[in-house]
Amino acid sequence: MPFSNRKNNPMNIVITGASRGIGAEFVRRYLDIGATVHAVSRNTDRLAPVARENKNLKLHAIDLESERGPAELAKALGGATIDLLINNAGIYLDHDSDFSHLSPEKIRKSFEVNTLLPMRATAALLPQLIAAKGTVANISSLMGSVSDNSSGGAYAYRMSKAALNMFTKSFSVDYPKLKTVALHPGWVKTDMGGENATTTVEESVKGLMKIIAELKATKSGHFYDFEGDELHW
Ligand SMILES: NC(=O)c1ccc[n+]([C@@H]2O[C@H](COP(=O)([O-])OP(=O)(O)OC[C@H]3O[C@@H](n4cnc5c(N)ncnc54)[C@H](OP(=O)(O)O)[C@@H]3O)[C@@H](O)[C@H]2O)c1
Repeated sequence: MPFSNRKNNPMNIVITGASRGIGAEFVRRYLDIGATVHAVSRNTDRLAPVARENKNLKLHAIDLESERGPAELAKALGGATIDLLINNAGIYLDHDSDFSHLSPEKIRKSFEVNTLLPMRATAALLPQLIAAKGTVANISSLMGSVSDNSSGGAYAYRMSKAALNMFTKSFSVDYPKLKTVALHPGWVKTDMGGENATTTVEESVKGLMKIIAELKATKSGHFYDFEGDELHW
């Protein structure tokens, strides 16, 4: 098991958007199995009590959207190899916007956070990922699937996640020694998913961790939901 408890050789994991929701649950779960977790967030205050209790949690208060952010993260990690990068940070800005009222700012911001931020973080950490023959897990969404789209709307979110999916595929082709995957976490009860969501963060993250742990090199560059079902782009 590549991501089970390896006491003598603990895995190093980087998680973006670690402050809350799915990202914070990833932090808790990977700490539980003995990983060293590098939690990246613009504000790490919420995770400070956990870090005081567990020395395996390293907090990085870095704005990855800023020009210097990804390089700052690479520098902060120093020579550490990275077994797993989870590009989890994301935003959903156009719940209520129909096409004719969608502002260019919302579209740009969606691409900045949902597409460019994962690409820039991955690029900055590439040497550390290659050194570990690591895995890049991009937290996408079924809403980024072109073939699944039967309800329309949410242009900025859908487009930015579809672009993240394309990044996942191209990157997997260009870096065959790494494992790369796009993951749909389900409709999850978080600030983004809301109260009516059908999946708890615990169920979602448990499923996502199983997929990451069991991901075979032959399945790099594919798209899965948290229950392990392969999704169509
Ligand atoms: N919840 C769902 O139903 C659902 C469904 C499909 C896909 N997803 C995807 O799952 C991932 C996690 O979502 P979630 O439900 O946990 O959302 P969430 O509760 O809203 O948390 C979003 C996380 O992303 C971070 N983030 C937002 N904007 C950022 C920025 N500009 N720079 C850096 N970090 C930023 C937030 O940090 P701050 O605390 O600093 O704002 C927060 O840690 C996202 O990629 C989302 O698209 C979620």
